Amino acid sequence: MIATVAVGVNRLTVGQVLLLATLTTCATSGHKSLPPTCQSDIYCHGPLIHTVQMASIFPDSKTFVDMKMKYSRNETLKRFNDMMLRTENAPSRHDVELFVGETFDPAGSEFVDYEPQDWIQKPAFLEKVADPELRQWGSQLNLLWKFLGRKMKDDVKTNSDRYSIIYVPHPVIVPGGRFREFYYWDSYWIIRGLLFSQMYSTARGMIHNFVTIVEEYGFIPNGGRIYYAMRSQPPLLSAMVKSYLDVTHDLQFLKHNILTLEKEFDFWIKNRTTQIEKDGHIYTLARYNDQSRGPRPESYREDFSSAQVFRTEAEKENYYGELKTAAESGWDFSSRWFVLNGTNKGNLTNLKGSSIIPVELNAIMYWNAKLLEEFNRELGMSDKELKYRQIGEQWLDAVTTVLWHEEVGAWLDYDIINEKKRDYFYPTNISPLWTNCYDQDKKQYFISKVMKYLDKKNIDVNQGGVPTTLEHSGEQWDYPNAWPPLQYIMIMSLDATGDDWAQQLAYQFTDKWVRSNYKAYNLTNAMYEKYDATVVGGHGGGGEYEVQLGFGWTNGVIIELLDKYGDRLKPQEDAAEPQTGASTSGAPRPSHPSSTPQLLTVILALTAAGWIGLDYLLRIVTALCGIYRKQND
Ligand SMILES: *[C@@H]1O[C@H](CO)[C@@H](O)[C@H](O)[C@H]1NC(C)=O
Ligand SMILES: *[C@@H]1O[C@H](CO)[C@@H](O)[C@H](O)[C@H]1NC(C)=O
Ligand SMILES: *[C@@H]1O[C@H](CO)[C@@H](O)[C@H](O)[C@H]1NC(C)=O
Ligand SMILES: *[C@@H]1O[C@H](CO)[C@@H](O)[C@H](O)[C@H]1NC(C)=O
Ligand SMILES: *[C@@H]1O[C@H](CO)[C@@H](O)[C@H](O)[C@H]1NC(C)=O
Repeated sequence: MIATVAVGVNRLTVGQVLLLATLTTCATSGHKSLPPTCQSDIYCHGPLIHTVQMASIFPDSKTFVDMKMKYSRNETLKRFNDMMLRTENAPSRHDVELFVGETFDPAGSEFVDYEPQDWIQKPAFLEKVADPELRQWGSQLNLLWKFLGRKMKDDVKTNSDRYSIIYVPHPVIVPGGRFREFYYWDSYWIIRGLLFSQMYSTARGMIHNFVTIVEEYGFIPNGGRIYYAMRSQPPLLSAMVKSYLDVTHDLQFLKHNILTLEKEFDFWIKNRTTQIEKDGHIYTLARYNDQSRGPRPESYREDFSSAQVFRTEAEKENYYGELKTAAESGWDFSSRWFVLNGTNKGNLTNLKGSSIIPVELNAIMYWNAKLLEEFNRELGMSDKELKYRQIGEQWLDAVTTVLWHEEVGAWLDYDIINEKKRDYFYPTNISPLWTNCYDQDKKQYFISKVMKYLDKKNIDVNQGGVPTTLEHSGEQWDYPNAWPPLQYIMIMSLDATGDDWAQQLAYQFTDKWVRSNYKAYNLTNAMYEKYDATVVGGHGGGGEYEVQLGFGWTNGVIIELLDKYGDRLKPQEDAAEPQTGASTSGAPRPSHPSSTPQLLTVILALTAAGWIGLDYLLRIVTALCGIYRKQND
């Protein structure tokens, strides 16, 4: 493997690359240790976080690193050292609990209630939904934006060193549940949902938050906490801006922020690309690749414990890096990143995502180049327009040469270690159709190959949506879980081709997804972060934490699908068709969803999940009772 180097051209001779590789090796020799996950010796590294997290005083490790310090860093460390002295470096769980209780405020204390000012009751998308039941649902999803809005206290700005949260100037819509802060790729679907809900200034504020973060950090962290500050997520900032411009035509906004968009793209080129040799040519492609040391602070104990199977520090560090790399992909965790003897078998200890070239990341890199080309054209910057057109052409060439497989009929991830394709089904395998990252002159060729591929994979046997993979690993980004962003990529990839056959399949996937989400909502009054592809109305499970309610990207995707396909969608299969999904599901018997006990269950679940504070309770009850009354009118 050749070390990561950023080059302006894609095709170099092997000789040139060897020279570059040698130079790079010289520059990085001496095994400088990697930087910590963040500078803070409270929230990211050092004895304090180690002691607290290993005592496992909270069921979720994320709780501690989300707590606010009551005192300065020095005072906090002093109190910690006193406690360690007093207990002769062997504090009991109770000692640690007392220390944390006395020194930190509860998680979530950085927010005040925020009801988006631009929220409207009847956004235009609702009128496009023909079915009254689905329209009512759409209206309830629109209402949920109010409960997912968060605004930071002014204290976060003035005393930012006492918080792990990254200060941003504008309110945000968060995913929900344990995800109390913004998340990068989630925000793409949240922002699109907001735009369909005509909440333009909330959407612009969220994008502007990201711009300020790129200015400060040089890129966008995975989420809005300092402990995410060394890893990112799929780079969709330019695509967010494009979504915003398409509806607002706010060229001033683009003009003000174009350099920041370029800066973010540059980060991915400089920090996240590698060279792949194929048939004597060298291609530049992107991968996810965390470059920091130590466990994930928000899953410290889990990572530290599972690392014990490795003997050397170097092996452990490598493992921590792979855990964080998988988190950067958004797919944490999945057999997609397992490499064991050239297969996708194994468990977390076999994570090797930094040695895999992922299809969608490169399709998105191409998209970034094309968007920056388009943006610069609109601003009359012809030099830069040309620059980005060339980068786009190089990416398209690299994606086609290295990742497209005619004999398979799809793009596939590439395993750098074993120098081979990874021939496993993922919805992302067709994502180049979504971003038009293929030769448009051969459109029919690509479409017919891909359609045959999907047919052969039998994806449509799943009644609840498209599964993430076909592997039963128990991880949450594996079978049978189905995730909103992946349904979206699948549907929009097929739809973007403009081909009748592909668009029909896009509609079939939409129909299943919408019905399944609706059924779950109808039963439990909740939107989930993920669902079960094999059960209509079943929500997902597995992975590191309980399934989360809310839920930002889920709502955003459904709102967009209601807008796009609302003229045709129905809440249930036609009575004439057999209702297989419902009878085999094993889900609880349908009962009236809006009965008071069920409402209470949901509200309690939300409160327990930390999604809402008590102060929200009254407002939610009031709002839901309103809906309940309307439903029963
Ligand atoms: C915190 O302590 C360090 C040394 O331990 C000192 O250099 C620094 O000035 C202190 N900071 C404050 C704000 O007191
Ligand atoms: C990006 O690369 C620079 C230069 O190698 C490095 O200092 C920095 O830590 C990297 N940033 C991230 C977030 O990986
Ligand atoms: C992987 O390959 C090695 C050597 O080829 C073999 O010893 C080992 O059993 C294989 N492991 C698995 C899980 O297949
Ligand atoms: C993962 O696999 C390794 C070896 O392949 C094994 O030693 C380890 O116990 C496994 N871990 C879990 C959690 O199953
Ligand atoms: C939604 O719930 C109502 C009331 O229980 C029921 O009549 C209806 O069939 C349900 N719809 C779906 C799609 O499950």
